[in-house]
This record gives sequence, structure tokens and C-alpha cells, in this order.
Amino acid sequence: MAKINQNYLELPGNYLFSEIARRIQAYKNEHPAADIIRLGIGDVTRPLVPEVISGLQRGVAEMGDARTFKGYGPEQGYQFLSEKIIEHEFRPRGVELDPDEIFISDGAKCDTGNIQEIFGLDNIVAVTDPVYPVYVDSNVMAGRAGKLGGDGRYEKIVYLPCTEANGLKPELPGTKVDLIYLCFPNNPTGMTLTKEELKPWVDYARAHQAIILYDAAYESYIQEADIPHSIYEVEGAKEVAIEFRSYSKTAGFTGTRCAFTVVPKTVLAYDADGNGHSLNRFWLRRQTTKFNGVSYPIQAGAAAIYSEAGRSQIREVIRYYMTNAALIRQGLQASGFTIYGGVNAPYIWLKTPGSLTSWQFFDKLLHEVQVVGTPGAGFGPSGEGFFRLTAFGSRENTERAMERIQKLKF
Ligand code: MLT
Repeated sequence: MAKINQNYLELPGNYLFSEIARRIQAYKNEHPAADIIRLGIGDVTRPLVPEVISGLQRGVAEMGDARTFKGYGPEQGYQFLSEKIIEHEFRPRGVELDPDEIFISDGAKCDTGNIQEIFGLDNIVAVTDPVYPVYVDSNVMAGRAGKLGGDGRYEKIVYLPCTEANGLKPELPGTKVDLIYLCFPNNPTGMTLTKEELKPWVDYARAHQAIILYDAAYESYIQEADIPHSIYEVEGAKEVAIEFRSYSKTAGFTGTRCAFTVVPKTVLAYDADGNGHSLNRFWLRRQTTKFNGVSYPIQAGAAAIYSEAGRSQIREVIRYYMTNAALIRQGLQASGFTIYGGVNAPYIWLKTPGSLTSWQFFDKLLHEVQVVGTPGAGFGPSGEGFFRLTAFGSRENTERAMERIQKLKF
């Protein structure tokens, strides 16, 4: 008799964004003509920029010529891309890395979900609350979370609440934890940490031999000068942090798939005898076993964003989305909502009005004005009473959504 992985029984029925898609579909079945505006899942809507298209086309043409054809590539990614990443993303910020500390992959969702595999099951995991659900769900699947309590928290996970009381910025764990997931600019709250605010986390990790799993998928949306784009800008972070980046939001690759993870060779975790092991070697071992790399044309397309024209083209797209973010902020403020985020991130985190729960607000928006957002409760217990809108829609839909929300009666 085949046995199921019992840990899966501890998961919520559906992944958050699948549940939202299910509810939208149910509404559409009843109202086939409804003109629904989707500002829920953070999926981009602008096309790939011309430089990326040329890069992809060059890559495809090479695959069609026997002289330049490529079979399996390096599992860790092509060096032409990792060298560009170092040159453009890190060196200008004073961070030196070796190409073999960069792992090109097909997404930060996969990497942030898979990274826990290289850590023992007895590690104590800390997450901010609200949180991108992948960090929690992947640890539940592995058996690191324990049972789900009636309060919406897993018994073995340490939750670091981000509430209005602490300015939506997590406080250091009061107990000893081993793995800390941080995401800045934050999904879902859109908040950021300065270097000074990030430093105590690095110090905590160094003092406790803990590891920070730092998701910086939204770093290209940072507008303010004093916000770090990489955790490695903080002194000592190269000893304790793994960083996840993505081309999904930076360059419109949600459907194309390309990302990278930085695992410095100096980041160690310990075996039962207390001997330190380089996580770089373990992640390489994991990836070479389970992953055959991102396709060559896609990596060629990603590398194209680092040309002068490519950089300016993707900056333009980011400006487009951040103008949407400003419109959402203004629209919501004009309607009297309390809002956060949307300044250095493409997400706006708003307080649901009155005593509406976040799912009640979701239903109200969908049924009364046909606008879709993401209920805060889907990101964790501290997300209750909040709601997330994304700036990734088209300009027209963003403006129409704001007009509709302004007409809502509470
Ligand atoms: C989100 O809406 O939170 C993101 O789009 C999810 C993701 O990037 O996987």
C-alpha cells in the first residue's frame, strides 16, 4: 500500500493564489459577462522589452545552427549570465561574488520553496507574518511545521508579526531560531528595511549560527536611496545569508521563467558533530541532482537586460508599474483607506474598512465592483484585516479599478 506524505494533510486545502483563481472562476460561471479587473496575483502585464526579445531570438537562432547548438547546459547556469549579474547587480553596491556563488534557476518561488531541503528537519523556522505562503507551505510539506493550530499558526513555526503597532516591521525573534525567512521589499506589505534595520538580523544570525533566507525578488522597485538592494550590503551577511532574486518582476519573466539565487561559499550549516559545511556545495549537489538548468535562449534573453538599452527599457517598465502604484495609493487615500507600501514595491497593503474580514472584503470587491485583490489573511494570521492590491495591471485597468473602488459604499 502506497503511503501518502502525511505532512501534506497539514496544508490548507488550496495554495492561496489557486484558491483566489477558483473563487473568480465560480463568480464568472454565474456572471459570464462580468468585466473583472485582476489586481490579485502579482503577475506582470507589460510585454517583454525589445532587447530581451532580441536576446531570446539570438538564443533560438543559435540553437538552430549546428555550429552553435547547445545540449545540456551547466546546471548552475551559463557563466555569461552570472558574470553579468555580478557586474551589474552586486559590484556597483560594493559586493564581490564569484560566478560559482550564483545559481541561475527557473524562479524564486522554486528556489525559496526548495532551499529548505538542504537543512535538517529539526531546524526552527521563523517567518514574518504576513508572509509569502511558499516559505511556510514548503516547510509544512517537509515536516518542519507541526500541526496547524486554531489560531492559523503552525505549532513549530516561529511567527514574527508585522502589525501596525510595529510599523509592519518584524522584531527579532525572542527565542532561538535557525532559519529566518525575510522578504524585502516585502510581499505582501510593500514595506522595506534600511541597512540599519537589517543589520540586527545579520548580527542575530551570526550570534546564533542561524541562516537568513533573503528574498529580494522586488529589489528593482526600490525608489529611495537609503534602502539596500541586497542583504550583502550589510556587513557580515555573506557569512549567514542566502539571497533570492528573480527576473519575473524585474524584467517581465513570469511566463518566461528565469531567476537566480546567491549562496556565498562562506555560509555554513552544521552537522550533528558540530562540523560546518558550506551550503554552496550542498545547494550545488541538490541542483545538479534535481535540476538541469534554465534553457539557453531564456538565459540569453535574461542577459540582454544588462545592455545599456536593456537596462533603460526595463527601467521604463518599472516606472510604468510604479506610476500605477502611485495611482492606487492616491485613489485609496482619496477614499479614506489606511494604506502601506507602494513606494518601494509594487504592492499596496490596505486596511479593510470597518469590521470586514479580508475575505469578506475580497467578496465585496468581487461581487459589487468586479475588482480582484488578495485577502491579507491568506498571507498569515497577522494579515487579517488587510488586503493587497498589485500595481502590475495595465494603466487603464488600474485607473478603472480605482474609479470602481471609490464608488463602493460601506
Ligand atoms: C504574488 O502575487 O505574491 C506573487 O505573484 C506570487 C509569486 O511570485 O509566486
